[in-house]
Amino acid sequence: MITRRQALKGALFGGAAVAGGLAGASSLWAVPKRHDMIARNIDHQLMTDAPATKRMFTFGDAMPPTLRVKQGQPFHSRLINKLEEPTTIHWHGMRLPNDMDGVAFLTQHYVYTDDHFDYRFTPHDAGTFWYHPHCNSLEQLSYGMTGLMIVEEDEDPGFDHDIPVNLRDFRLGSDGQFVKLFQPRKSARAGTFGTLRTSNWQSAPVMDVKAGSLVRLRLCVTDVTRIYKLSFPQGTDAKVIAMDGNPVEPFAVNKLALGPGQRADIAMRIPDGEGEQIELTNYSSSSPWSVLSLRAIGQSLNRDLREIKPLPGNPIPQPDLKNAEYIPLEFSATAEKRPANPICGSLGFSFWAVNKRAWQGAERGPLDPVDVLKRDKSYVFEFINRTPHTHPIHIHGMTFQLLKSNKRQLAPWWTDTALVLPDERVQVAVRPDYEGDWLMHCHIIEHQESGMTAFMRVE
Ligand code: C2O
Ligand code: CU
Repeated sequence: MITRRQALKGALFGGAAVAGGLAGASSLWAVPKRHDMIARNIDHQLMTDAPATKRMFTFGDAMPPTLRVKQGQPFHSRLINKLEEPTTIHWHGMRLPNDMDGVAFLTQHYVYTDDHFDYRFTPHDAGTFWYHPHCNSLEQLSYGMTGLMIVEEDEDPGFDHDIPVNLRDFRLGSDGQFVKLFQPRKSARAGTFGTLRTSNWQSAPVMDVKAGSLVRLRLCVTDVTRIYKLSFPQGTDAKVIAMDGNPVEPFAVNKLALGPGQRADIAMRIPDGEGEQIELTNYSSSSPWSVLSLRAIGQSLNRDLREIKPLPGNPIPQPDLKNAEYIPLEFSATAEKRPANPICGSLGFSFWAVNKRAWQGAERGPLDPVDVLKRDKSYVFEFINRTPHTHPIHIHGMTFQLLKSNKRQLAPWWTDTALVLPDERVQVAVRPDYEGDWLMHCHIIEHQESGMTAFMRVE
């Protein structure tokens, strides 16, 4: 018999047991709830004025579920593949053991049809994260397989509503069916945009919330291409309180740039008057459009944003800038050529490169790392953008801090995905805490799959 105290003790030490690979220990003590993720095809009504979209890819039977877990507690997810092709799951923004990172060929084998794979790790950082396959990514992500993962703080900050928002487009024809996902001309530029803009797989949804309440809106851009610029109307009582999972000095939501892979947590107060609406608008395309609206319902709760507890910082290893090693990483365009037999993650073109090397897809292994780092040593990476396009640069398995740019003032945010503007040079600092091969790529998936990918080895 396991007493309640022992079970509690198990919960405390379960993380270490799982990380150390002692699977038996975790089943004896605290057994984390298993989140089964069934990868499958569905038909789903995305457009209101067209037939259901056929052969979407998802986890489960609608939009991929928002997973909610607690900081510091063991997480277990079983990927069960019911697709007609291999897949994996990558946990975007998580610091975790390399073999749980979900990159086909680099960190794990394909998970084939009817096969399964167990992901087990303990989230160190609280905040808004997300997950997606790292295998045939342009298709699997474009067809739907992007979901949010929320890691809750130990102490509840005190919101009345917590609303995850999966922001993305779908590339559909007027008949509601998928059309060709990319145009090579566009892949060689900013990328190919979707046609249907959605929040939680709906067009401009109106969400009911209590009047006078406090809302935590968790925006996550899971789109393969679009960089949003988000604003609330003047006078809205709202502040960004976290970026890319990590708390920031709160600031107003004014043309907030959010690229593929990025997240913003917004704390906002809903107006007191029943029926009043606040609209979130995107200004990144020539005609602004509504992302979502929040509508006040019922009697005012009369809350005040000052009642929210500030979010605690995450336990990220602090880089030692004085002893950091400098590593330049150059992102550039390249001449088009066709790699042989592109499988699992290549468009069949190479338009882009990291340090002058275009990633040839995953099939050519063994591949060389762009650099070899030491665990626990400090580094300053300089992302050098030699192109006239913005690239959201993402590094797996490590959270880095923005230091400076040659073009603008940067706040010292911790992130896993940084927007690097045309011709910009951005320096970031990092102290990797897990060994392994960590992928690094632009999160515009067409760029990722046409050369702008590399990996770092941490030893
Ligand atoms: Cu969202 Cu390679 O990552
Ligand atoms: Cu890019």
